[in-house]
Amino acid sequence: MQLENLNPLFNFDEMPKQELVNSILTGQDILSVSQFDRDSLSYIFRRAREMREMVHRVGGTNLLAGRVLACLFYEPSTRTSSSFIAAMERLGGSVIPITQGVQFSSVSKGETLADTVRTLEQYADTIVLRHPETGAAKLAADYANVPVINAGDGAGEHPTQALLDLFTIREELGQIDGLKIAMVGDLRYGRTVHSLTKLLMQYNVSLRFVSPEILRLPMTIMNQVIDKNIPVRETHDVADVIENADVLYVTRVQKERFSDLSQYEDVKDHYEITTEIMAMAKKKMVVMHPLPRVGEIHYAVDNDPRAAYFRQVQNGMYIRMALLAAVLGRA
Ligand code: NCD
Repeated sequence: MQLENLNPLFNFDEMPKQELVNSILTGQDILSVSQFDRDSLSYIFRRAREMREMVHRVGGTNLLAGRVLACLFYEPSTRTSSSFIAAMERLGGSVIPITQGVQFSSVSKGETLADTVRTLEQYADTIVLRHPETGAAKLAADYANVPVINAGDGAGEHPTQALLDLFTIREELGQIDGLKIAMVGDLRYGRTVHSLTKLLMQYNVSLRFVSPEILRLPMTIMNQVIDKNIPVRETHDVADVIENADVLYVTRVQKERFSDLSQYEDVKDHYEITTEIMAMAKKKMVVMHPLPRVGEIHYAVDNDPRAAYFRQVQNGMYIRMALLAAVLGRA
């Protein structure tokens, strides 16, 4: 089936010049959210909306036909890996999936990350990498000649998640400026929180950080928030923020980052978002979570129209389609 003939609206070659200028992402690594300013964010969001429209109408296109993505995951993943794969396939490209555990690759024979990426780039036009060490994506990018996209590096960053999180806030609430955003849970090790906080600093928002003492946001990031004069408060208690929050961004305690598991046991059940807590929140607010959840949000909350976490999952695919198209030069 010739998909592009079905719907001339999606002739991507006829994008206005302005769109081509924005392909500054072409050939670029995506390592950190600090690479994005408000203009490039709204460009990616516009492209993501077009991708959503296109998927709803015709399911896919051949924009990236002949392009190959290597998906290299040294840590478990459900959403990030499958949404990158779905994104690439809906754009007509194909995928080398090393997502079922690098134990089945030569990594288990002791191959270095540098050699693994220098191998994959012989086959693929871009590499999506998830790795348990902070800075691994940067290291891979230093060795690779093809763009490397950071799909989470330890407790460092998770830039594509933050893009889809910000996009979700924008689509759910119609704006980002002016919002009160509360982040709850593991703010110390949660890389999605680190990336999203850095992105939000570009907007006129106020931030609330809710965590147990040992899981507070790292000082380096908190200092950036303060330097930007963003109204900010820290607390241990969701009750302090729930009435005024426009966004409640809930996270899982990152068990795999604890060296002392007894500390994890102490904090793991600290926060549970229940229907009782939701009853205290604004009528128009959203509850988000990067997922997986392990008890932080009760199933009973899922029926609440303010529960946006599965819509957030779907947005991930559109955002990654927009990013892949931009990075692979079909912006
Ligand atoms: C997150 C991650 O891997 O950092 N998951 C995701 O990509 N959606 C959050 C988590 O694992 O808790």
